[in-house]
Amino acid sequence: MTTAHAPGKIILIGEHAVVYGQPAIAVPVWEVVATATITNLLKDSGCTLLAPDINLRLRLIDASDELPLALVTRLALTHLGLPANPDWQIKVHSQIPMAGGLGSGAALSAALVRAIGAHAGQPTPPALISELVFASERLYHGTPSGIDNATIAYEMPIWFVKGQPPVPFTPHNPLTIAIADSGIPAPTKATVSEVRRHWQATPDRYARLFAAIGQIALAARQAIEQGDVDELGRLFNHNQAHLAELGVSSAPLNTLIQVAKSAGALGAKLSGGGRGGNVIALVQASHTAPVTQALLAAGAKRVIVTTVRR
Ligand code: MEV
Repeated sequence: MTTAHAPGKIILIGEHAVVYGQPAIAVPVWEVVATATITNLLKDSGCTLLAPDINLRLRLIDASDELPLALVTRLALTHLGLPANPDWQIKVHSQIPMAGGLGSGAALSAALVRAIGAHAGQPTPPALISELVFASERLYHGTPSGIDNATIAYEMPIWFVKGQPPVPFTPHNPLTIAIADSGIPAPTKATVSEVRRHWQATPDRYARLFAAIGQIALAARQAIEQGDVDELGRLFNHNQAHLAELGVSSAPLNTLIQVAKSAGALGAKLSGGGRGGNVIALVQASHTAPVTQALLAAGAKRVIVTTVRR
């Protein structure tokens, strides 16, 4: 039996603008993981895919490539030169809430690729995992930038520009981030295509907003590398103001953001596609409890506290 894991992810700065070529910063979240387990079956059983979380059980040979898990399994088997229908049971499970901006789909696919490589005794370097997961992300997202698969495959804080290899980088000090789930499902595909429609209608305005977010990402990288958390908090707030202008925030997210700041967070913003999903609040490590309590009292379904470190 072989088991492999992949973390969730949050975007610290730069969602949406990253789809249009601006830089963005994302980090893995190890407090919630996706897991894939492979068990050998009797000869000639073929490959069965099991995802009990979504009541899915099917034979790989019957599965359409429209199903991301089937597609990524086939891609991994092909890339690693393995039989197309091995006698395996592949079971996947995720602690990462779906449609919450934490990369649930990419993490499931990454755990799967990693498990297939490990079960076959073959290395799966991050670049290969990222490439294969990207193919499945297209089914979830339509026009993904590639930041989710890159963060989850490299398992490190990354500086990301679409079409370029991600650049892992090191925070000067650990960063403490409270991630609050609004409980409102928000498929990224929907917000990404809505932003695209608005951009097509008012290209100059949207191009200016994207460029401004790119500048915030540059300043944020500097603040993170210099350990200037006060500045990073201000940059979270600036980025949130631009995301609201893009039209991807919402009243429930604005409330959680406001509550986190009133409880002492250094800055707060939505993370991921927006509308629903998660907000992230940068906090001093000593100040985690009041911010978490305030977010829960304001209706957050759960709060995960993560520490971003080197
Ligand atoms: C989703 O996690 C981030 C978005 O920027 C979409 C993408 O980059 O593919 C909204």
